[in-house]
Amino acid sequence: MNQNRTPLLDAIRSLIDTHPAYFRIPGHRLERGISSRWTDRVGTEIFAYDVTETPLTDDLHSPEGAILEAEALLAALYGADRSFFLVNGTTCGNEAMLLSAALAGEKVLLARNAHKSALMGLILSGASPAYVMPEVLTAWGIQGGVTPAAVRRAFEAHPECRALFLVSPSYYGLSSDLVQIAEICHANGALLLVDEAHGGHVYFHGALPAGALAAGADMCVQSMHKVTGALTQSSVLHIKSHGIGEDILARVADNLRLVQSTSPSYLLMASLDCARYELAARGEEMMRRALALAASARAAVCALPGFRCMDRNVTGVSGIAGVDGTRLVISAKELGLTGFALEALLFEKYAVNVELADYENVLAIVTYANEEEELERLICACADISRAYAGQTGAGKTGQDVFLPFPPLPRQAATPRQAYFARVQETPWQEAAGRISAQLIAPYPPGIPVVYPGEEISREAWAYIECFRKHGRHIHGLETDTVRVLCDTGAL
Ligand SMILES: Cc1ncc(COP(=O)(O)O)c(C=O)c1O
Repeated sequence: MNQNRTPLLDAIRSLIDTHPAYFRIPGHRLERGISSRWTDRVGTEIFAYDVTETPLTDDLHSPEGAILEAEALLAALYGADRSFFLVNGTTCGNEAMLLSAALAGEKVLLARNAHKSALMGLILSGASPAYVMPEVLTAWGIQGGVTPAAVRRAFEAHPECRALFLVSPSYYGLSSDLVQIAEICHANGALLLVDEAHGGHVYFHGALPAGALAAGADMCVQSMHKVTGALTQSSVLHIKSHGIGEDILARVADNLRLVQSTSPSYLLMASLDCARYELAARGEEMMRRALALAASARAAVCALPGFRCMDRNVTGVSGIAGVDGTRLVISAKELGLTGFALEALLFEKYAVNVELADYENVLAIVTYANEEEELERLICACADISRAYAGQTGAGKTGQDVFLPFPPLPRQAATPRQAYFARVQETPWQEAAGRISAQLIAPYPPGIPVVYPGEEISREAWAYIECFRKHGRHIHGLETDTVRVLCDTGAL
């Protein structure tokens, strides 16, 4: 296929070029109605591309023209049978995959480091989860990959599961052995569904981990806005059939209609069309640049007293089959600084914005669009911190409290859906241990639920979440000092 084309972008342009008398939605009339407070700052032209379904611009929910063509180009680039544009992020793609994978009352296997959008899919569907625990990468205090052995054991314990939902690569760029895991899934008559939110770029350079579709996954979802030039919320879902679970794959388009707006943004969709065009034209060059920028920053930060940077050496341990070199995982633990304290210092003192922090590390995402000067600022800030904190003790330091490991699986008293729609009461967080949660509780980012609706808030889970709370971290589900718990589990 001719990847040099941008069918949707061109279709929108054709519409604009007809200089239409416009009586459709949106009401701003191709830019004229946007507040000058905004256009004075950003210009007007982009707003003309904010259009809707017309005979020229096609319909996301039943594509026959420009969108269908743009999606076909995307599928060809990634080696998929069919690809879908998503305007509600990987969130809606994960929801649609899980809504398709298991009907109410059926069971699905889920890696326990799944993003909260997977749980939202389960609340919508009424399916019941069984879990696979990822390994722990103790040297860095984070979760590693899911091992093929753990997947095998999970299917032995839950042979009725028709799909496994996995995150790979993780936020930290750590991927699981998807080739072996796909084989195990298929041998069990189950689909492998991969949340590849952080992996839309890995297909374009040999030094990056294997992409899910290439490894044998049946479906995957990618946040193109996280790693390519697409606008925020723009994601894609790919299907590649291996002759298993055709009924599941056939449900995806319908389920996407359930979780996406009937007024999808053409700005977002055009950005997907153009991001695909760029990747096709120069994806390898883009990834080479990102890898080189990250590699030189990694070397420079590693050389600073008190700093460490994760590298490929973690491959082969803790279920990790590959490492995305564009992710910089940085620790200043030896200076006594938590990841949280390092993140705050970088932001407040040096205007260096990293993606997230955990107790031990910060995570900086490097893309082809970063400037060398930005990496230099990160390095200089770390050098300054290295000098300032050498041999000091003080606030925000590690060692004053112990950050607990991710808690073991708790008792499941109800499915996520049953608990979410049950009678609930608010209970003070301090008294919540031992109660059955009616909601998710997830430190954010990364948005991995520690407690699912229907689960007991175990002592371990309570203590783990309390560590984040004490450090003033943002926690979805714990915005106040109370949580919603079930009134009566007997009624379920
Ligand atoms: C692993 C993972 N999956 C899914 C999502 C949701 O993606 P989106 O923001 O594109 O909806 C995120 C968001 O950070 C994520 O980290």
